Amino acid sequence: MPDILVLHGPNLDALGAREPAVYGHVTLAEIDRRLAALASELGCGIESLQSNHEGVLVDALYAYQPRVHGYLVNPGALGHTSVALRDALAAVGRPSVEVHLSNPASREEFRHRSLISAVALGVVQGFGAESYLLGLRALATHLGDSTHRA
Ligand code: DQA
Repeated sequence: MPDILVLHGPNLDALGAREPAVYGHVTLAEIDRRLAALASELGCGIESLQSNHEGVLVDALYAYQPRVHGYLVNPGALGHTSVALRDALAAVGRPSVEVHLSNPASREEFRHRSLISAVALGVVQGFGAESYLLGLRALATHLGDSTHRA
């Protein structure tokens, strides 16, 4: 049974109230609830953590590494700026899926570059809260396939 850590970056704790025209009305607690329901359907263990601090997210990647098989990550704005988060994702040696509620490629220029994508297994963006669920399915399928191959 694969165990997955969900990491939510800065400002995602404000979902629901934060720029609803861009991010929708769904709260982070509701996203975590939907992820937990899907995880149990898929037979995965799941834990979620949100932080507004880069170092907390980096520390969490290492702290959970011995007991998780993969990461589902919405890096928020840190995806565009954080070499530290990218390096940590590369260092932990576990597959990660990057997700975004909005489609950064259709927004401001500074959102077009992700430092995370190159070290992620894949990226799901632009589907609102559904991006997380699609990302979880993709990660769980990948982990299931690699377990069966091993
Ligand atoms: C986001 C997109 C980022 O550009 C932004 O800084 C966020 C949220 C998203 O989920 O659409 O905080 O990651």
